[in-house]
Amino acid sequence: MKDVTITDNILYIGADDKDLDLFESQYIIPNGVSYNSYVILDEKVAVMDTVDARKKEEWLANLEQALVGRTVDYLVISHMEPDHAANIQVLAEKYPEMKLVGNAKTFPMMQQFFAMDLSERSVVVKEGDTLHLGTHELTFVMAPMVHWPEVMVSYEKSEKILFSADGFGKFGALDAEEDWACEARRYYFNIVGKYGAQVQALLKKAANLDIAMICPLHGPILKENLAYYLGKYEIWSSYQPEDDGVLVAYASIHGNTKGAAIKMKEILEAKGAKKVAITDLSRDDMAEAIEDAFRYDKMVLASATYDGGMFPCMEDFLHHLKSKNFQKRKVAFIENGSWAPMAAKNMKGILEQLKEMTLCEKTVSIKSVMKEANIAEMEALAEELLAK
Ligand code: FEO
Repeated sequence: MKDVTITDNILYIGADDKDLDLFESQYIIPNGVSYNSYVILDEKVAVMDTVDARKKEEWLANLEQALVGRTVDYLVISHMEPDHAANIQVLAEKYPEMKLVGNAKTFPMMQQFFAMDLSERSVVVKEGDTLHLGTHELTFVMAPMVHWPEVMVSYEKSEKILFSADGFGKFGALDAEEDWACEARRYYFNIVGKYGAQVQALLKKAANLDIAMICPLHGPILKENLAYYLGKYEIWSSYQPEDDGVLVAYASIHGNTKGAAIKMKEILEAKGAKKVAITDLSRDDMAEAIEDAFRYDKMVLASATYDGGMFPCMEDFLHHLKSKNFQKRKVAFIENGSWAPMAAKNMKGILEQLKEMTLCEKTVSIKSVMKEANIAEMEALAEELLAK
């Protein structure tokens, strides 16, 4: 385990997972993921969440080492998703005197996951309730739908630590040498993106707390420059574009639509677009395409026509964007079709349902292979897209 220092009496006992194929069975994690768990050692001992079942043994060993012979008085459960809650029963059996701390939504869910009757040992807390451990005191703040309904965060007053559940989490094992924002953004939009209003509500509550450190359930402990991370969450949760730029997302069957998308990228760059990212929706990471769609203020969608609609990977992409509450962006359309191009009409049909979208009036419609006339149309489309 990487040595992670929190404070003298708050220890990291989580585990890195570097050989999971897909996080939540859908997200690639090239640099793994961490399941964070912490223990607070005071007159009373509190464990802050468990870890995924895959890391049970390592976590129990970490806990044992941290306890140096002591017992556990409380398990604080901020989230019932199995990547954090899988070992609740294991810990409850190991420490029969241990109390379980959750809210009114936590315990019914616990009964769904575990056969054990823990009702006699439950401490049900609500907004603002506190748990005294000695010099440490936890205050509970409800954070419904960040990312499940039972989620709550805990604020430890004496050391000014926010235990933020999935909030401020990130893909990547703790020893991954990578930029925080890139994998935190991909994590945020794909996992919590739909719940911007609820994240905003949590940020408002957090603004009243004096926070010196954020301990999330995934990714690094945040100790410095917290305004940076809070600022990113403010932008992301309010669905504001983060950067001036364009994502060109294409769905191509034989490469002709891809050729048009690459040409469109060149045109946009020549016309002064600050940043143009491009993604092959058939082959590239869908989660990163979603991340980039939210990151930039503009998007070009280029799709082949297929079965009278759009190519399936484009439909999948737009379905994801819709379900993540995508909004407030400007979009241009390029379609291709060898007999009856229909992709643009169908793509627009989905995006028209979203909030505060600006859809370009011009559409480039290619018949099989891009021609000179299409390039001229793409020039005009790029101008419309880049116009303020
Ligand atoms: Fe990391 Fe929503 O669990």
